[in-house]
Amino acid sequence: MNKQDAEKEINHLRELLRQYNHDYFVLDDPSVTDAEYDQTMRRLLDLEAEYPDLVTPDSPSQRVGAEPVDAFEKVQHRVPMLSLGNAFNEQELRDFDRRVRQGVDSDITYVCELKIDGLAVSLTYENGQFVRGATRGDGTTGEDITSNLRTIRSIPLKVKDQTTIEVRGEAFMPHKSFLGLNKDRDERGEEPFANPRNAAAGSLRQLDPKIAARRNLDIFLYGVGEWEDGELEAHSERLDYLKSLGFKTNPEWKKCATIDDVIDYVNKWTVERPELNYEIDGIVIKVDNLEQQETLGYTARSPRWAIAYKFPAEEAVTTLTGIELSVGRTGVVTPTAILTPVKVAGTTVQRASLHNADFIEEKDIRIGDAVAIKKAGDIIPEVIRVIMEKRAEDAEPYAMPDDCPACGSELVHLEDEVALRCINPDCPAQLQEGLIHFVSRDAMNIDGLGEKVIAQLFKEKLVQTISDIYRLQKPSLLELERMGEKSATNLLNAIEVSKNNSLEKLLFGLGIRFIGAKAAKTLAAHFRTMDALSEATYDDLVAVDEIGEKMADSVVRYFAEPHVTELLEDLKQLDVNMIYKGPELSAPEADSPFNDKTVVLTGKLENYTRNELKETIEAMGGSVTGSVSANTDIVIAGEAAGSKYEKARELGIDIWDETKLQDVLNA
Ligand code: IVH
Repeated sequence: MNKQDAEKEINHLRELLRQYNHDYFVLDDPSVTDAEYDQTMRRLLDLEAEYPDLVTPDSPSQRVGAEPVDAFEKVQHRVPMLSLGNAFNEQELRDFDRRVRQGVDSDITYVCELKIDGLAVSLTYENGQFVRGATRGDGTTGEDITSNLRTIRSIPLKVKDQTTIEVRGEAFMPHKSFLGLNKDRDERGEEPFANPRNAAAGSLRQLDPKIAARRNLDIFLYGVGEWEDGELEAHSERLDYLKSLGFKTNPEWKKCATIDDVIDYVNKWTVERPELNYEIDGIVIKVDNLEQQETLGYTARSPRWAIAYKFPAEEAVTTLTGIELSVGRTGVVTPTAILTPVKVAGTTVQRASLHNADFIEEKDIRIGDAVAIKKAGDIIPEVIRVIMEKRAEDAEPYAMPDDCPACGSELVHLEDEVALRCINPDCPAQLQEGLIHFVSRDAMNIDGLGEKVIAQLFKEKLVQTISDIYRLQKPSLLELERMGEKSATNLLNAIEVSKNNSLEKLLFGLGIRFIGAKAAKTLAAHFRTMDALSEATYDDLVAVDEIGEKMADSVVRYFAEPHVTELLEDLKQLDVNMIYKGPELSAPEADSPFNDKTVVLTGKLENYTRNELKETIEAMGGSVTGSVSANTDIVIAGEAAGSKYEKARELGIDIWDETKLQDVLNA
């Protein structure tokens, strides 16, 4: 392929990927399968690798990858980013309406929008290209967080007009991402974020864009800042225009002709707010007509043509009837408040996290107290304070127990941790949590083994250790509640399939302290077998890129435990794979069947995705290209292979089917 053809194809692929991104991330309506998307992206990456000078910053391949910075540059907002005046009740909304109507002669239409609880940002496009993204800062000077914002997939890197425009909106973290992030942080012993807004702000303030990229942020655009060719007459037209450029705008906005309609909108969202999958903290009401906006003008800090109605912070008072202690996988004992059920922000709350002993002591929380609770970020219930006036005279200060609530062994504070831990390796609560971790998605990924099934298996003593999972037999499974013939067969299949997982999944599943999914992959790729890893010394381990001292120390200690040796021996006997199957990170061996070979993949393979196979072939010294030519050495043809297969036959090129491929890979 010559450069001109490559450029043509590159442009075509970029257009496709932009459309796929837009459908998926902006419209929430995917138009292709993940596999198709991956394949298109892979092809683009290949071509861009071949012609690096054709790479442009607006290419869909260029979202992550910017280097970490030491500090953010300052950015001046030429049109200041103002804030809004607040209204806290219906009367204050009516007052706002009166002021507006006094200020203009003509009829008023309002636009009501959800007030997204995130971080205000400004995005600048020059000739249609995203060139800069900034925080609001103090309104006149913000910080340049372009590299972080580029990782938000709903932000187009290129918009549909060649226009130069600065747009504004709210970057936020959807509930699902927030809950996932906090769960991960919890597992790693890191402090969870208090609410999605802090999590979004924290993510966008990271100096390394790779972190923001992992956080699954999103954005809604709601306004225009600096814009020279702007000719529109109303805010609502701007919203439509933003949408037509490819931006994600919030679909719930509504025109309202009267303040009663505005109040209806406010009331509707006060009720429906819990159903959204992102956080809102109020409603923004804006005068639609831009000329009227000008007439009304601004106070020093905010426009007179808009106001933010703020939802009341949802608090409720209830009784704390008890404190439950649970023991996590790593032995950390977490106290949870048991509450008399009470309704907050649309859902019934009966439990709230008390975090740790320090939290209970600081707030002087005692059993029987009346407590004010709130849903932090309106999702996670939290005890805010004790209503001291209502405290019973005989209420005793709460003391955390000295012994593990699950196994009775003495609890300890490790190093200078706040948390209390049970360090008994045989503690049943830890074992059970450890099993749940072992089968979880990023670990062995055994479908059908949820928390409830594990709890039953554990209770019935069918599974006490990880290796017991691989000894399960159908008759005993069938004795479990709600376990039918079909689920049992599926479960046994899933367990069987998991035996073939690559080493890193097993390694992560073992739950070695400080070894998360990423470190597990690094270790697996480096040491390649469990045996090699188990024999690695501290020095061997710290010599590996990205493996720190704490991790190295933890790995050495782990493999020194006699029960670990026994467990690994058991798993080996049970045919659980202990070899790394991912791409090699070291140089390929010269006798690799793919060494220096040019390979073309065509058709659909049963057992490999294209990406996996490409990585494997490359790791084995081959290169994978998109089209068959006289230079092609091998064509790997799956189901429904079409013209490439025909061409390979014409040219007499070596053609492998999947069986042959598997033979070679397993040799
Ligand atoms: S309009 C001059 N619309 O709320 C008017 N703001 O104090 C500029 N916000 O920090 C704001 N959702 O980041 C507007 N639909 C929305 C909004 C919104 C959230 C934030 C904004 C600003 C604060 C207003």
